[in-house]
Amino acid sequence: MSQQNPSSTAYENLRARLVTETHTWLVTGVAGFIGSNLLENLLKLNQRVVGLDNFATGHRRNLAEVQTLVTAEQWANFHFIEGDIRNLDDCKRAMVFPPMHAVGGRSAADVEYVLHEAALGSVPRSLADPVMTNAVNVSGFLNMLVASRDASVKSFTYAASSSTYGDHPALPKVEHTIGKPLSPYAVTKYVNELFADVFARCYGFNTIGLRYFNVFGPRQDPDGAYAAVIPKWIASLIKGEPVYINGDGETSRDFCFIANVVQANLLAATAQSVDALNQVYNVAVGERTTLNELYAQLHSNLLPRYAHLKGVNPLHSDFRTGDVRHSLADIGKAEQLLGYAPTQRISEGLEWAMPWYIARHRD
Ligand SMILES: NC(=O)c1ccc[n+]([C@@H]2O[C@H](COP(=O)([O-])OP(=O)(O)OC[C@H]3O[C@@H](n4cnc5c(N)ncnc54)[C@H](O)[C@@H]3O)[C@@H](O)[C@H]2O)c1
Repeated sequence: MSQQNPSSTAYENLRARLVTETHTWLVTGVAGFIGSNLLENLLKLNQRVVGLDNFATGHRRNLAEVQTLVTAEQWANFHFIEGDIRNLDDCKRAMVFPPMHAVGGRSAADVEYVLHEAALGSVPRSLADPVMTNAVNVSGFLNMLVASRDASVKSFTYAASSSTYGDHPALPKVEHTIGKPLSPYAVTKYVNELFADVFARCYGFNTIGLRYFNVFGPRQDPDGAYAAVIPKWIASLIKGEPVYINGDGETSRDFCFIANVVQANLLAATAQSVDALNQVYNVAVGERTTLNELYAQLHSNLLPRYAHLKGVNPLHSDFRTGDVRHSLADIGKAEQLLGYAPTQRISEGLEWAMPWYIARHRD
């Protein structure tokens, strides 16, 4: 094990340690935005990764892109299973990194750390098809809990959501104070937390839930009716299409760059302290940006490259059903119990992400 440097952050120390010890991870939703970023970071740290995805909203091109970003040796540490979390057998199958029988091939390895990202995101999608959202996000989640418990994994970290704060008006959002869910999606993410809690009580199976606040970064899908605001607006601006702001634009969000989310997952999965387990944590930056401010930032970032954006203003449409008005996280709990320390604020995250969106538009 490598030496710990007392002046480094918990995350720097963890990365230094991981790079010298190979562990086996399962990332569900690995072909999606967050899953593929977890995959990239884990492979770069010489970890072994099983990935599970059914390509419902994820893409083969995300996996192909990760392959270009790691070495051939690191890529050989990835085993992909095309499967569906609604199928318990698929979840069970994903609990082992299979052996390779070629000369000098690796032996089988049991999954130690589960990062469960697979779900159907998007509030509007859940309003359009609550049955499907429930099947994936609740039944699929339960399958993953059962399979992980039965495989005696070391830890189970899952994607929860800031939507669980629902109609509670308090700002900033603190983990123990939530309101009523405002959408079927929010119900499913809250039910995940309830099931996780019950698995600790009934089976002694501990988990950690990460309540992500609007995450953004490379490989977040800009296409389709359910695209998230940042990639959707960037794509519209680049293409010279109108940008619609839902409502007056004073709706606010705590936008969180993907690197911070990767950090939170790795710290949560490897957390040792008993106090840190069987908990949910806000994962954000702790800063609020209104949609009007976001538009101004994206517009000024892109203006130097795209002359057609000169003088272009957004259009306003109706408020969206199911949307929370304001969102801002208190990240104190994750800082204290996990050693979480976000490395990028929204402006820095946009600087990192923008070249990816520009390059993607050129493809
Ligand atoms: N992106 C955000 O801002 C945000 C915020 C809060 C919570 N989350 C949660 O984070 C997780 C990852 O979100 P994302 O933004 O990467 O979304 P994404 O749509 O890019 O990724 C989800 C992945 O899950 C896969 N998937 C869906 N249904 C599946 C099934 N039945 N079986 C196997 N795989 C399945 C999809 O194909 C996709 O690759 C989700 O649980 C989401 O609810 C995301």
